Amino acid sequence: MSTPFLPYGRQSLDEADIAAVVEVLKSDFLTQGPAISRFERAVADWCGAKHGIALANGTATLHCAAKALGLGHGDVLWTSPITFVASANAGRYCGAKVDFVDVDAGTACMSVERLAEKLRQAEKNGTLPKVVVPVHFAGQSCDMPQIHALGQKYGFRILEDAAHALGGDYLGERIGNCRWSDAASHSFHPVKIVTSGEGGMITTNDDELAWRIGTLRTHGITRDADRMIGESDGPWYYQQLELGFNYRMTDIQAALGASQMAKLDAFAVRRRQIADLYDQALAGMPLRPLARDTQGVSGWHLYMIRLNLEEILPLTRRQVFERLRGLGIGVNVHYIPVHLQPDYLKLGFKQGDFPEAEKYYEECITLPMFPAMNDADVARVRDALAKALNL
Ligand SMILES: Cc1ncc(COP(=O)(O)O)c(C=O)c1O
Repeated sequence: MSTPFLPYGRQSLDEADIAAVVEVLKSDFLTQGPAISRFERAVADWCGAKHGIALANGTATLHCAAKALGLGHGDVLWTSPITFVASANAGRYCGAKVDFVDVDAGTACMSVERLAEKLRQAEKNGTLPKVVVPVHFAGQSCDMPQIHALGQKYGFRILEDAAHALGGDYLGERIGNCRWSDAASHSFHPVKIVTSGEGGMITTNDDELAWRIGTLRTHGITRDADRMIGESDGPWYYQQLELGFNYRMTDIQAALGASQMAKLDAFAVRRRQIADLYDQALAGMPLRPLARDTQGVSGWHLYMIRLNLEEILPLTRRQVFERLRGLGIGVNVHYIPVHLQPDYLKLGFKQGDFPEAEKYYEECITLPMFPAMNDADVARVRDALAKALNL
């Protein structure tokens, strides 16, 4: 019998999750029903944020939040080049320009030094960003107090991309509580920490922002008479106040998400254990994991390694990657720097623009990480790595 393929990420569903979905299927509401607010409360309460607004996916949350923060034509959004394209695309959906801040060599999160430097320059050139999107890469928080302080100084709004980070904390606060930001964006894609199939959520402590994102998810429509221009025509009446979208989550998804939230603590503990096991198992190999910021605990969406390329010569990253795949290990690469995507090269970005991100990309490999992995799976990855590296 061949050994099963070990994917890099995988959902963990149980009978309670299935029952929660079936319950919605038998109910009156497949969408716009009570499961949405249940899920919203579960995530907001867990994070310690005032509001949770559920949307169709994480990308939609970034889009609506950026728009609600005032981003539009002529404005600029900055994010990290080491992220999924969604963090940057959100700015372009709003008609804004996008630029990047290079990453920290250790954590691959947005570098606060590079950010401060770039802001000084942008102030001189009149190109300051309106919104900055720090990405909590692999689950580890960016240095939010420093980014917040820079936001105060230079007047930009902060939208955390916490798609990797639910379950993590920083300086004793849960990631997503928005202590140092205007809002945080979450994703519930099946490889993420908890899943709703597809799905996303904004957490925020800002009442007005929450309201605006809530209307943007349904065409910019309100049914609240207090918010209307002029008088309401009657109980059926609604008004479109601005151009929004249909970015609603279904109750089927929300029921799954809410049920998954009951397991978030257990998932987070297991992910931390797996990360520790990897650290021990891989010690002494010609590679290094991401630096751990001791001020927080990662949500551990991803376990990344960086190969010491000179030490493994004449082997290349590509060969190691292909050997691992050949051994049934579902490795991946997170991420191809966004500025090097053809659609971003068209905008004028080029190789060499963000050297630390590019160096990281040359060396990185994503190892399998999901709560249902057992200790033997970690040993299997270690053995495969040893073989792939000719150790
Ligand atoms: C860092 C980051 N931001 C945003 C997203 C977008 O989330 P979704 O796939 O739910 O639209 C993802 C998902 O892969 C992500 O990894």
